This record gives sequence, structure tokens and C-alpha cells, in this order.
Amino acid sequence: MSQESVQRGATVFSNICAACHQPHGRGMKGSIPPLDGSEWLNAKVKGIPVSILLKGLEGPITVKGEKFDNVMPSKATLSDQQIADVLTYARKQWSNNSSPITAEYVTQVRASLVNRKKPWTSQELKSMVGGKIEKEEQNSSPFSYKAPTTLEVVNKADALQASTIAQMTPQVPQSESSFLFIAVVMIGLMKHIHRERHK
Ligand code: HEC
Repeated sequence: MSQESVQRGATVFSNICAACHQPHGRGMKGSIPPLDGSEWLNAKVKGIPVSILLKGLEGPITVKGEKFDNVMPSKATLSDQQIADVLTYARKQWSNNSSPITAEYVTQVRASLVNRKKPWTSQELKSMVGGKIEKEEQNSSPFSYKAPTTLEVVNKADALQASTIAQMTPQVPQSESSFLFIAVVMIGLMKHIHRERHK
């Protein structure tokens, strides 16, 4: 249940995230973006925060109108359950009041992103959801949980979005593989020159 997930997530948060994002969730001015009120953490498409934890994030990002340009390492060593818990917790903390994220959903996203090796840039994530990160509508009471029926609907919509992310992903490996191809050709050429010189 979500309540237990929130409790477990609180431990993960204080062990792993609080060092940077701070226990108050407001981050550090100029270097660490806030989670409290963040449109990225509270995104309507849950694949956004899940993808950030699975692969990391680097380069310029605007959070709540403030610019940051730093690196967040991947948290992929956490289990699917731990990722679900910590995000469910953070999405319910401070002024946040977004819907929970399930371990099953994290499993789906993780599977759809197996070929993705690099950290994301905020631009890439944005382009996957039509150019704009939309914050989920915030419920009025801090610890109200959505009825299972609503949750099912939300998860179904999210599963579709996860498959969109999966479809978008091959674009990146493509450019990576052409880069690799050029690198291999270059190395071959250099070896050839080297051999010619030492004949
Ligand atoms: C080593 C420091 C560090 C740790 C640990 C860390 N983060 Fe981050 N996080 C960052 C930085 C820096 C960025 C912004 C990266 C950039 O500038 O592109 C970020 C960005 C984010 C974002 C997107 C922007 C925002 O503010 O909403 C989310 C969501 C997030 N982190 C969640 C988490 C969670 C949850 C954890 C714990 C599991 C965590 N982070 C652990 C440093 C960290």
C-alpha cells in the first residue's frame, strides 16, 4: 500500500537523496534543484522522475523557474521497489501531493531503457513528452491516496507513456553507434599510418 511505501521511501530518502536535495527538499541555491514543488518530480508522466533515477541527469535544467547546470549520478543500483518508494515518498512530502509510483511501473520503465547508457539531459526528457514538463494536478489533502480504480487508470496511461519513451530511446543509440563507427574507422586509419611509418 502507498502508506507503507511512503514510510519505506522516507528511509531511502534520508539515506540517499537528502545529502544533496536536503531534508527540507529545497535543494541548494545555484547547485542542487528543489524537489519541493518541482514539476520534474511531480510530473504527470511518472516516467520522467523514474527515468532520472534510473539513468541520472546532467547539463542545464530549469526547475520552478530557476536554472541549474550540474550532474546527478544514476541511482540504478536501487531496486525497483526502492525507487518506487522514494519517489512515492518525495511526491507526497513538503508541499507535494502527487500520486504514488508502483514498483511494477519502475520495472517496466527500467526494461524499456536497457539500451540507454548515458545520463539524460533535461532537453531529451522534455522532447519525450511533447516539449513541456507538466506537473500533476496536486490533491488538496497532504496524505490522501487515490482509490485503486483511479490508480489503475493512471497506471494504464503511464504504461502507454513508458512505451513512448521506449520508442524514443533508439534515437540516442543510433547517434552513439555512428560515433562509434567513426571512432573505429579512425583507430584503423591511425594503425595503418603507424605501420606505414615503421616499415
Ligand atoms: C550527489 C547529489 C545528488 C543526489 C544524491 C541525488 N540528487 Fe537528484 N539531482 C541532483 C542534481 C545536481 C540535479 C540536477 C542535475 C542537472 O543540473 O542536470 C538533480 C535532479 C533531480 C531531479 C530533477 C529536478 C528536480 O529538482 O526535480 C529529481 C526528480 C531528483 N534529482 C530526485 C532525486 C532523488 C529522489 C534522489 C534520491 C534517490 C536524488 N535525486 C539524489 C543531485 C543529486
